[in-house]
Amino acid sequence: MTTSNYFFRKEKLILEDSSGCISNSFLNLSKDEWYTIPNVQRNRAFARFERTDGLWKLLSDQRFYQSEEINSYNGGIQREFQAIDKRLIESGILQKIGEEQASMMGLKDVPMRVNVHQMQIVAIGAGASCQATPEGIHRDGHDYISIVFWRRENVVGGISRVYNEALECKAEFELDEAGEAILINDRIGYHEVTSFHAKDLNKAASREVFVFDWNLL
Ligand SMILES: [Fe+2]
Repeated sequence: MTTSNYFFRKEKLILEDSSGCISNSFLNLSKDEWYTIPNVQRNRAFARFERTDGLWKLLSDQRFYQSEEINSYNGGIQREFQAIDKRLIESGILQKIGEEQASMMGLKDVPMRVNVHQMQIVAIGAGASCQATPEGIHRDGHDYISIVFWRRENVVGGISRVYNEALECKAEFELDEAGEAILINDRIGYHEVTSFHAKDLNKAASREVFVFDWNLL
């Protein structure tokens, strides 16, 4: 089997939402009870697929586990997340941007199991320090991952950083436009997002992304 040995890539995916499917899917996310940063809420949903020859089969298992070694914040816990909005799944938007990513990563013909995490971090108090990655500089424990930016409001900070195996920062990006994506070989690189806070303390601050985990089948 051919696999791809790139380190990371910055890309722009086509993510248009004329149907409103994506925006609507962020309206009713469940609170992540395992995220306990004061005055901040992480809301999320999850979907798992098997993808072979470009065909995406939705799996029913909503459980997600990372070891303590991989995730110092929530590792060692069997977590279970609500399903991503059925209308978004059925729209095929996630599968389409998934295929785009597979091509960019050089994995078009490689069967993969793909987890999609939909995440929204919201400051619920003025002056809150929002941690998108409370585990700090980390790997996710997959073969490849991607962070696909959707939207942010009233945010200062939240810079995405990519590190090499020696934990030297090799790139940083302030994701701002829908569809901007960082694709990372999770066996080579590490990543983090710096904390963010509200620009205008009288308004809510929020940041929304999709994270794709890619695992060889
Ligand atoms: Fe991560």
